[in-house]
Amino acid sequence: MEFFSLKDKVAVVTGAGSGLGLATAVRFSQAGAKVVMADINDASELAEKNGCRFIRADVTKETDVESLLKQTYDTLGKIDIMVNNAGIILPEQLLADAVLEDFKKLYEVNVFGVVNGLKYAPRYMNDGGAILNTASNSANGDYAGYGAYISSKCAVVGLTKAAAIELAPRNIRVNCICPNTINTPMAYAEGCETELQVMSITTPLGRMCKAEEAAALYHFLASDDCKYITGEDIYIDGGLKAGPSIQMIEHLISKPAAF
Ligand SMILES: NC(=O)c1ccc[n+]([C@@H]2O[C@H](COP(=O)([O-])OP(=O)(O)OC[C@H]3O[C@@H](n4cnc5c(N)ncnc54)[C@H](O)[C@@H]3O)[C@@H](O)[C@H]2O)c1
Repeated sequence: MEFFSLKDKVAVVTGAGSGLGLATAVRFSQAGAKVVMADINDASELAEKNGCRFIRADVTKETDVESLLKQTYDTLGKIDIMVNNAGIILPEQLLADAVLEDFKKLYEVNVFGVVNGLKYAPRYMNDGGAILNTASNSANGDYAGYGAYISSKCAVVGLTKAAAIELAPRNIRVNCICPNTINTPMAYAEGCETELQVMSITTPLGRMCKAEEAAALYHFLASDDCKYITGEDIYIDGGLKAGPSIQMIEHLISKPAAF
C-alpha cells in the first residue's frame, strides 16, 4: 500500500503561479495528482515545466472561478481537491489610519476569493473530496498594522468551519492551514517589514517556514489517509503559538524595557 498517494486525484490550486501555491501544485503532481494551476498571472510555462495544466483565473471574479472549475471538470472528468490559496497582503496600516478601500481590496482576494471557491468547487467535486484554504498564523493575532490581513485570515478560518459542517454530509472535508512567515515573495512585500525583521526572534524554531514544508501539510490533509480531520485550522508556525521563544526571552532580559 502506498501511503499519502494522490494517484489519479484531480486537484485545482489557486494562486499557483508563485510561492506556496506553486510548491503545493508541484508536490501534488509528484504524489500522482493531475493538477490544474490557476493564477491571475500567466503561469503556463511553470505549469508545463512541472507536469501541470494552467488556467488563468482571478479568484475575485465569480465567473472566472466557476469557469476554472467547469473547465477542469470537463477536461479531467472530476475534481477531488480544491486549494483556495490565492492571497495578498497590503503595506502596514494602523486601524486608526485605516483606508477602507485598501481593506476592501484585500478582502476581495483573501475573503471573497475563498468564498467563491467554497461556493463553486462543491458543485463540480465528487463526494469524499477535500477542500483546503490558506489562512495564516495571523488568524491567531499578529503585529500592529496588520489589521486588514489578520481579520481576512480570521474570516478564512470561520469560512472553513462553516463549509466543513455544510459539506460533511457529502464527506467533503474542509480544512485550513495557518502558516507563520513563509519564504515566498509575499514575505518580502514592500511596507510589511516588521514581520520579516522580528520573526526569527519571536519564532521558537528561529526561521521562516519553507513553502515545501507547508505544501507537505497540504499533501497530508488532501490525502485519503486523513479522512477524519475536517473543520480544522492547523498551525504550521515553528512553535510561535506555543509561547515566547528562548531567544526572545534572552533578548528581553538582556535589554529590560523602560516600562
Ligand atoms: N508568505 C507568507 O509569509 C505567508 C504566511 C501565511 C500565509 N500566507 C498565505 O499563503 C498564500 C500564498 O501566498 P504566498 O506566500 O505564496 O504569496 P505569493 O505572493 O508568492 O503568491 C501568491 C499568488 O497568488 C496570486 N494571486 C494574487 N491575487 C490573485 C487573484 N485575485 N486571483 C488569482 N491569483 C491571485 C499571485 O499572482 C501569486 O502567484 C496566501 O493566501 C497568503 O496570504 C503567506
